[in-house]
Amino acid sequence: MTSLFDPIKIGDIALANRVVMAPLTRNRAIAGNVAGPLTAEYYRQRAGAGLIIAEASQISPTAQGYLDTPGIHSPEQIAGWRKVTDAVHEAGGKIVLQLWHVGRISHVSLLPAGTVPLSSTARRAEAMTFTAEGFVPVSTPRALRDDEIPGLIDDYRRAACNAIAAGFDGVEIHAANTYLIEQFLRDSVNDRNGPYGGGIANRARLLLEVAQAVSEAIGAGRTGLRLSPMTTFTAPLDSDPQALYGYVVDRLAPLGLAYLHVIEGETGGTRNPEGKTFDYDALHRSFPGAWMLNNGYSRQLAIDSVAAGQADLIAFGRPFISTPDLVRRLRDDLPLNELRADKLYGGGAEGYTDYPTLAD
Ligand code: PHB
Repeated sequence: MTSLFDPIKIGDIALANRVVMAPLTRNRAIAGNVAGPLTAEYYRQRAGAGLIIAEASQISPTAQGYLDTPGIHSPEQIAGWRKVTDAVHEAGGKIVLQLWHVGRISHVSLLPAGTVPLSSTARRAEAMTFTAEGFVPVSTPRALRDDEIPGLIDDYRRAACNAIAAGFDGVEIHAANTYLIEQFLRDSVNDRNGPYGGGIANRARLLLEVAQAVSEAIGAGRTGLRLSPMTTFTAPLDSDPQALYGYVVDRLAPLGLAYLHVIEGETGGTRNPEGKTFDYDALHRSFPGAWMLNNGYSRQLAIDSVAAGQADLIAFGRPFISTPDLVRRLRDDLPLNELRADKLYGGGAEGYTDYPTLAD
């Protein structure tokens, strides 16, 4: 029987165990949206994870949606991340970067002067974002023109190459949580005509083109991708999630990606939204690479899911924020530190790098 604590190779990346640190927005980038020394210390402390998926990072200046999130598009950002990856590798860990475009979940104050958020649609989301002025409603977006899509795909490709130049072991394409790629996927948001709107094949086109471009640029064995079929967050569900995400996974299968990362239920919320069922195992059956599941896993559920072959890896979010030595605590069945929920977003070391390990 496979153990959560057994090693695994996912694509080209060899991991010491199957406990993954999920990507977590912490809003602590320094000037220039650079990952600073505190961020290097934060990830170094958590290098006992089989894999760290570093927080969502904007692929271009127009891809940002919240204050003080890191980017992966400037030389300063690459240099900042290099200190992070060196720290994690010196501590024996592996780390990939999540590539992010927020689409319409942004505010003009966070974007280059004179620009507005970009999406599949010109309809504004019913959502808030965090800016220098505090929480504000997101701005009305502009629908990307079809002739702008190749440039967008170039931004993903360049960001993936930048991540490798910064020393990451790979990247995770963020196609979840109702950000740009999912704004194309779902018929609840995408109101386009033409090659990127309408039926499932057209709505999935951007995701598949990004996955293809990134895989070709850095190697499919260094590329993962994250989906959240049943998360509402800033947009309603698709009218037929099973068909939509089934199609997506069928088309991703031949690319040879290192892994697929699926959030079950409502991101950060219930694993079983009332009256909404989804057959995650059906997606798993059609994907040949490593299968990573996430959302609200207890120690026992994680152990049981890997033992039963329902998942190859389990990603933990909040438990990894509070407990840097999570793998050891899970292995020895020891209690975790308490999460300081008021310190999740923004600020400094408090609630970031000051959680104790057992060794402390
Ligand atoms: C957030 O900043 O609230 C956030 C970022 C990335 C996600 C989900 C939420 O995937």
